[in-house]
Amino acid sequence: MKRLPIGILGSGKGSNCRAILERINSRDLAADARVVISDVLDAPILAIAREFRVPNAYLPPGQFRTRLEPRAEEELVKMLREAGVHLVVLAGFMRVLHAPMLNAFPRRIINIHPSLLPKFPGLEASKQALAAGESVTGCTVHYVDEKIDHGRVIAQREVTIFSDDTPQTLHARIQIAERDLYSSAIAQLCEEYQATHV
Ligand code: GRF
Repeated sequence: MKRLPIGILGSGKGSNCRAILERINSRDLAADARVVISDVLDAPILAIAREFRVPNAYLPPGQFRTRLEPRAEEELVKMLREAGVHLVVLAGFMRVLHAPMLNAFPRRIINIHPSLLPKFPGLEASKQALAAGESVTGCTVHYVDEKIDHGRVIAQREVTIFSDDTPQTLHARIQIAERDLYSSAIAQLCEEYQATHV
């Protein structure tokens, strides 16, 4: 069985990355984690990669705050290509990707966001959902395009909002849903990959 080669990008905690690597290890997910890359030198996601013995790297992002410097983005493309990555999985990657990555991996970059997109894109999605008085929110796996938290939806899961929820308690429950949803969505893409790569 041909395994889908993935590269995971993240800037922080790495709970989604951990869940994906656990599912791969338990042979529950027909993917092959080729590399984990972070724009943050001491991000826990890199320690998780080391724990699972997945090749990992720090990518110096350059001088901008919300995007990679063009040279750094070209370097990222090179690193992912050299690792043989077919699908790029964003797992808490806090920079917006631009032409170098979008052109190198057309419809092959996915992201997870803690809301039912198109509702509440951007930062603090749980806080936004509470402020809007919603009774249900959730999480979304989607293809990445040039806009923030935008692009064709692959899968969504609802999470009920309780009257005593804070942004923190709500986000924690969304993250539990995320960990399962992301692996399920990647499993679906593994099947599509296997159907086209014999
Ligand atoms: C997740 O909640 C995801 O929706 C958002 O960033 C967070 C990353 O968390 N894009 P983690 O690093 O996977 O724990």
